[in-house]
Amino acid sequence: MAPIPPTVEARFRSLFADRPVILAPMEDVTDPVFRKLCREHGAGLCVTEFVNVEGLLRGCKTAARKITLEPHDTPTAIQIYGSDATRLAEAARVAEAAQPVYLDINCGCWVPKISSRGAGAGWLREPDSMVTMAKMVVEAVALPVTVKTRIGWGPESHMPIVDLARRLEDAGVRALTIHCRTAKMGHSGDADWSWAQKAREKVSIPVIVNGDVRTADDARRALESTGCEGVMIGRRAIEHPWVFDECRALLDRGEVVAPPSALDRITLCREHLLANVAARGELHGVQCTRRHLSGYLKGIHGAAALRQKLNTTDSLARCLEVLDEAEARVRRGEPATTDRLLTRSEILARRLSADA
Ligand SMILES: Cc1cc2nc3c(=O)[nH]c(=O)nc-3n(C[C@H](O)[C@H](O)[C@H](O)COP(=O)(O)O)c2cc1C
Repeated sequence: MAPIPPTVEARFRSLFADRPVILAPMEDVTDPVFRKLCREHGAGLCVTEFVNVEGLLRGCKTAARKITLEPHDTPTAIQIYGSDATRLAEAARVAEAAQPVYLDINCGCWVPKISSRGAGAGWLREPDSMVTMAKMVVEAVALPVTVKTRIGWGPESHMPIVDLARRLEDAGVRALTIHCRTAKMGHSGDADWSWAQKAREKVSIPVIVNGDVRTADDARRALESTGCEGVMIGRRAIEHPWVFDECRALLDRGEVVAPPSALDRITLCREHLLANVAARGELHGVQCTRRHLSGYLKGIHGAAALRQKLNTTDSLARCLEVLDEAEARVRRGEPATTDRLLTRSEILARRLSADA
């Protein structure tokens, strides 16, 4: 096992010194553009989308793109997933060359096409193999290795995470992120943070609590009730990246910050759209910004029709025109748009005439 260089070690420790609020790894979401945006809004640490080890080892373009980190994209960890311990260890060496702050192994993805093949949360069905695999990855690289997992496969009454946490620490894993649901739960039901607390009591490595943290007050309660070193936010960040600043204000200064104004919301839409188009080209850039719009525009007077106008065009110029109009109207104290919502058939008719 190559020793972790002192500078890397010191950096890793410093990541957890101040109860970081971490952007969760999310496939098709936490790309470099979104990581930058969340970092600017207070995320203390980011994790890439999960990267398939076979893709990495074959030199596949998508995998190579996902592990590429620009110099400003820091601190960012790279997450890898796979079902074969040897291949995970080999891929860890490839990912290490991209110089993330640490490597994370995904042992939490519940999606059947992944977990049924033994990858992601599939490892929870074989705790012994999971520990052996983690040890092999730890020994393959000179970077700290962490694991993101769930409390169990489901529906155990006493969750295996408590014993697993200790065994993973013994295997050399340097931090754990616990999504406080079982794999069987997917995203349904409530996350039970008490399991993160029980696991936390068994180990001396940092534990990050994850699942259903939607507000600054949730983050404070999750940290205080579990004693965890960090908190991770996924879905709420997609719709409301301001959540990171809100958490920091509450955790660091006990302050409740004012919600974003309508103008802040429109500005964020414009910035995210422009950055996505610059990174991915017009069509893909416009389309992949859409999943954020309903959250970004929430609460603005006229939001539903505004969102519809943005969601029914693939043209950057048209989106910018719609946002500029909305901004001008909001500045005058008017609703962002007075257009009514179109029916499905009206939208279809417009699409057909645009294609003709
Ligand atoms: C769209 C989407 C993609 C996700 N992709 C990943 C992934 O690539 N790796 C991972 O470990 N978890 C992934 N997750 C799970 C999240 O990281 C997180 O554990 C989960 O959403 C619970 O946190 P939340 O309640 O804050 O959303 C994904 C979740 C969502 C909604």
